[in-house]
Amino acid sequence: MTASTSHLIVPHGGTLVDLVAEAERICELKAHSCEWPSWDLTGRQLCDLELLMSGGFSPLTGFLNQRDYEGVSHNMRLQSGVLWPLPVTLDVSEEFTKSLKPGSSKIALRDPEGVMLAVLHVEDVWLPDRIAEAEAVFGTTSAAHPGVDYLLNKSYPWYVGGRIEATQSPSHYDFRSLRLTPAELRAEFTRLGWRRVVAFQTRNPMHRAHVELTFRAAKQVEANLLIHPSVGMTKPGDVDYFTRVRCYQLLLSKFPQGTVRLSLLPLAMRMGGPREAIWHALIRKNHGATHFIVGRDHAGPGKDTNGKPFYGPYEAQELFKKHEADIGVTMVPFNMMVYLEDRGYYVPDNEVLNGSRVLNISGTELRERLNEGREIPGWFTYPEIVQELRRSFPPRHKQGLTIFFTGLSGSGKSTIANVLMTKFLEMGGRPVTILDGDLVRKHLSSELGFSKEHRDINIRRIGYVASEITKNGGIAICAPIAPYDAVRKQVRSLIEPVGGFILVHVATPVEICEQRDRKGLYAKARAGIIKEFTGISDPYEQPQDAEVVINTADLTPEEAAQEILLHLEREGFIGVNDNHV
Ligand code: PPS
Repeated sequence: MTASTSHLIVPHGGTLVDLVAEAERICELKAHSCEWPSWDLTGRQLCDLELLMSGGFSPLTGFLNQRDYEGVSHNMRLQSGVLWPLPVTLDVSEEFTKSLKPGSSKIALRDPEGVMLAVLHVEDVWLPDRIAEAEAVFGTTSAAHPGVDYLLNKSYPWYVGGRIEATQSPSHYDFRSLRLTPAELRAEFTRLGWRRVVAFQTRNPMHRAHVELTFRAAKQVEANLLIHPSVGMTKPGDVDYFTRVRCYQLLLSKFPQGTVRLSLLPLAMRMGGPREAIWHALIRKNHGATHFIVGRDHAGPGKDTNGKPFYGPYEAQELFKKHEADIGVTMVPFNMMVYLEDRGYYVPDNEVLNGSRVLNISGTELRERLNEGREIPGWFTYPEIVQELRRSFPPRHKQGLTIFFTGLSGSGKSTIANVLMTKFLEMGGRPVTILDGDLVRKHLSSELGFSKEHRDINIRRIGYVASEITKNGGIAICAPIAPYDAVRKQVRSLIEPVGGFILVHVATPVEICEQRDRKGLYAKARAGIIKEFTGISDPYEQPQDAEVVINTADLTPEEAAQEILLHLEREGFIGVNDNHV
């Protein structure tokens, strides 16, 4: 350690780990890499590797071996006795393990483009008891917990542990000047003369309550402030980090000049509550922070299927307190900040006097207000943050949407879809694309037949295209038969996070479709000339989750389109600006 950095906090375990090999060694490793099996890193593994190689996870020097893993899972300790609360493991498929010999194999760890980022020296290969891990680490095996869901349903079943030699950092092209490694942040603190630094972890946009909280925390412990948001993987459904970072940048001007630094942390969160709070603090210690803010429900995974929170609101603070000496970072505990309406300022909720009226807006309510284009009050956040959030989350009538028709052949899907399209074109404002069953079969799915497997592929393709259109603010009108419920639901779950999804069941009974037989297909199906014909010789699963149900025996196509438009208007997908008549 040089004299100029001697005032900084000592990294966890004593030394700041740097796993990036010397230039000559990198050349050697690259030259040999063709002899080793390659593993394409998952999104989470990429984040973990980045923090391993930069020393963010000091004292870890690689993915945990089996003994460290057992110690961490059950006692929060590495074999060396050092405190470490969450397993950092490399999960791989069973097939991949067949190519490995513990003790001698090396693995080339690659990014999604195939670039080798590191070499793993394989020490252990084992089949972990992931249920026991979930229970020990998260205190539950419920898949409603995002960390458990990832562990039990998304991760690979085998673990590989061993030392790492890094050849290249994962590449980032966004916010480059804000992505400081532990060594870079430490150098920055030294340059600025910051000896006491309080770090603030966040995965959400920050509003006035957060500014008040962090500012108070910094004043309370007489430290400078490091706003250190996680921008790796956070809780599913969170605000994307691009929007968040733009908000954080705007917010910096609300703090006294020169007292605060913003840096982005490529951390894949586990939503592990109390254990994760300790992990967060150790990572910040490695980045040079001496203090760490632990608020209400830190890294909280939400509620279980009975609506009960997985952890108590201040359980993270309690566990932190218990291990504070080993953590080596001072906790700055904070209650939830609430706005005192009469006084016009924020206070922690444990300082509210009886009878005072307090105001607060939850994340869910903020989303609703944005969706509906409603007012977001000045006591809650700053106008420039509102403006930034509105750019990313426009009101529903400016968001993209998919109208997904399902129904038998000849039920009237295409006719209604076409009427609806002309109505949207008449209104203007959003681009409209129609993905009709026949058109899709011609342009996207010409090689597919009508087996269940092929129909599902067809619907997934339609869903993918519709989700892209929706994401980019357009209207996708899809009109396939889509006879199977599971794949319809898959499409819904793909689209709902990026815009509106409205399932329209054109529930014209099969007898009427057959009577009409506009294309003569029913006659051919009855004669056995067309096989696997929906409604005759192949199933149609009636949707139970349709937003709109239309029976064309009772309605004209124009009336059916109006039913859908009325639903859209009710739900806010058509707004006053759209000038529809
Ligand atoms: S699916 O199940 O959603 O993939 O079907 P889809 O792509 O919408 O089908 C488009 C048209 O294919 C014609 N057709 C058949 N339909 C059902 N079953 C069988 N076996 C079949 N063979 C051909 C039919 O004309 C469908 O168009 P529509 O517009 O629905 O009549």
